[in-house]
Amino acid sequence: MPKKLAAGNWKMNGSSASASEIAALLPVLPNVSCQVLLCPPATLVTSMKNWTEGSSLLIGGQDCHANESGAHTGDISAPMLVDAGATHVILGHSERRSDHGETDAMVKAKTMAAHAAGLVAVVCVGETEAERDAGRALDVVGSQIAGSLPDGVTGDNTVIAYEPVWAIGTGRTPTLEQIGEVHDFLREALDQQLGAEGANLSLLYGGSVKPGNASDIFAVANVDGALVGGASLKASDFSGIIKALDAA
Ligand code: PGA
Repeated sequence: MPKKLAAGNWKMNGSSASASEIAALLPVLPNVSCQVLLCPPATLVTSMKNWTEGSSLLIGGQDCHANESGAHTGDISAPMLVDAGATHVILGHSERRSDHGETDAMVKAKTMAAHAAGLVAVVCVGETEAERDAGRALDVVGSQIAGSLPDGVTGDNTVIAYEPVWAIGTGRTPTLEQIGEVHDFLREALDQQLGAEGANLSLLYGGSVKPGNASDIFAVANVDGALVGGASLKASDFSGIIKALDAA
């Protein structure tokens, strides 16, 4: 069975002053049974671990290098994230793919590194608006899944996030039918690629998820949670999304 997961991606936001926002989020956690993950910038992973000591909040990085260590100025490895207190890492986010030219092969290598370090990889896929308009959304996410997942993927070490690029940070979301179509397709593609294990991977939807649209999105078949950007920065918004997932 896939686990329900509400994941927040803070992107390049947050500072030591974010402790108060985290303090406001913590009271929600004992009242829900879904998993809750926050991925702050790497500079805050250890602080967030300290701020949330004794709580069920999971903490993740937003990227990792494919190598364990070495001469890679500015990069962070998967074992370093583990050392800092992370259990998860987002990989292949569309902003990494576009800002840093990350290819499926690079995402695959990073996913292998994450698994080797014991991290859960949250692997992101999603089509651009032009690809959707050209009727290629399913082809694009299908080839991203095929190219980004290494051998050895299980429901315990990997989560998939479907994030249409045109819905990220824009306030626009696909229709529920469009979300359902892609999630059904991904579940099928995972079954084909991974056999019976494919049914155990959580499939998150991401792109302009808010407290106001979360319940409708979580009611779609094969949506097991969300990867939330902007709305994860405010405890009040993220709490609403967590509660909607828990009730779904
Ligand atoms: P958004 O970002 O919720 O701000 O649209 C989602 C993401 O990029 O993960």
